Amino acid sequence: MSSDADLARRAAAIRHRAWCPYSGFRVGAALVDDQGRVFEGCNVENASYPEGSCAETGAIAAMVAAGGRTIRTIAVAGGHDTVTTCTPCGGCRQRISEFADEDTRVLVLDDEKSWTTYSVAELLPASFHLD
Ligand code: THU
Repeated sequence: MSSDADLARRAAAIRHRAWCPYSGFRVGAALVDDQGRVFEGCNVENASYPEGSCAETGAIAAMVAAGGRTIRTIAVAGGHDTVTTCTPCGGCRQRISEFADEDTRVLVLDDEKSWTTYSVAELLPASFHLD
């Protein structure tokens, strides 16, 4: 199982692969699933702005394509030149929630080497579920 420090390092590293010529805001995400596998993603923007996708979306899509269904921990690193606090956007909170359980943790990097840990319920209280 990947450590929190390893996930944080991977999120900060993969953000350098972001395609973000429109915002200049690089985001990386790294998650570990309940099988201990790590998946990464970065934001990929588009000249048709709404067509871009978030870093968390890419990492989650990679996990699902590999058969993963539960996120143990996801780390998110975003910022312009350096890493600054980038809490997941509303859509990504819902996407994380889809593959979370009560133990899932979200690490939001404050800078390259430190992070704040949230539960999914803290980020998305009273969340929508289709029952
Ligand atoms: N972005 C992410 O990748 N994840 C988030 O949770 C917040 C925003 C991206 C989308 C866009 O490419 C850029 O950051 C600026 O909004």
